[in-house]
Amino acid sequence: MREPSTTGAAGTTDAFDALGDLYEESARLPFREHLEHHSVRKAVGDVTGLDALDLGCGSGVYTRRLAAWGAARVTGVDCSASMLATARVVERARPVGARYVHADATRPVTDDGTADLVLSVYVLCYARSQQELTGVLTTARRALRPTGGRLVAVTLNPDYGRGTAYYAPYGFTLTQPEEREGAPVTLDATLPSGGRLHLTAHWWSKDTYERAARAAGFARTSWTRLTVSPQGRELLGDAYWSAYLRAPQALILEATAS
Ligand SMILES: C[S@@+](CC[C@H](N)C(=O)[O-])C[C@H]1O[C@@H](n2cnc3c(N)ncnc32)[C@H](O)[C@@H]1O
Repeated sequence: MREPSTTGAAGTTDAFDALGDLYEESARLPFREHLEHHSVRKAVGDVTGLDALDLGCGSGVYTRRLAAWGAARVTGVDCSASMLATARVVERARPVGARYVHADATRPVTDDGTADLVLSVYVLCYARSQQELTGVLTTARRALRPTGGRLVAVTLNPDYGRGTAYYAPYGFTLTQPEEREGAPVTLDATLPSGGRLHLTAHWWSKDTYERAARAAGFARTSWTRLTVSPQGRELLGDAYWSAYLRAPQALILEATAS
């Protein structure tokens, strides 16, 4: 893949600057570890020997996981230089062979068409317009092999639990003052270290995601709900997870070109 010299979607890069270490920490929150990571692992399936792209890789949490799960070639792409700096520090300290590329995925990053899998975790919901959403999906589509290539994306569930405190037991809140396509949805979380995440994503309906995927050249899309790992159930009990599972904050969108 060539390395474009873009600086990222205006606003998006700034929002994530200096968050690399906090993102590393957030990956250990129970809802990320036992719901999201577990569900992503199941959704991607056997990645042994695959060429995998982590689109919007941030600090490289999933880039490293893809390598650990057996992918032969892993590339992380992100528009935040600061997030990538954290990813590269971790790669130097504990090398897994990951390559990191600084680029804005709303514009074409690659048309290699060689990746078997594109994983994109909490990135599509940061698109600020339908054009940006289609742009990111088009980058994913062009990166993938035309036959057999697969996108697995975790994004904000359009039917997430309303009410700012709904997800407080899981360590974060979501605030959405307006109900409309593209409406800002703000996530606030205080991590065990005292560090704070304050990020604004955007609400898109399932229809909008599916239309954008078709415009990007994907023929099929499907949605999957997150499930809790056996360890998560054992550690925290079914009662702890029940409110989350009634209205999960995230869903998995899968898309294939054929
Ligand atoms: C919420 S973080 C998730 C990071 C990582 N996927 C994870 O789950 O740990 C979203 C990441 O997507 C990146 N991002 C958002 N829009 C992007 C775009 N248009 N192009 C490239 N990266 C983007 C941000 O810079 C940020 O690092």
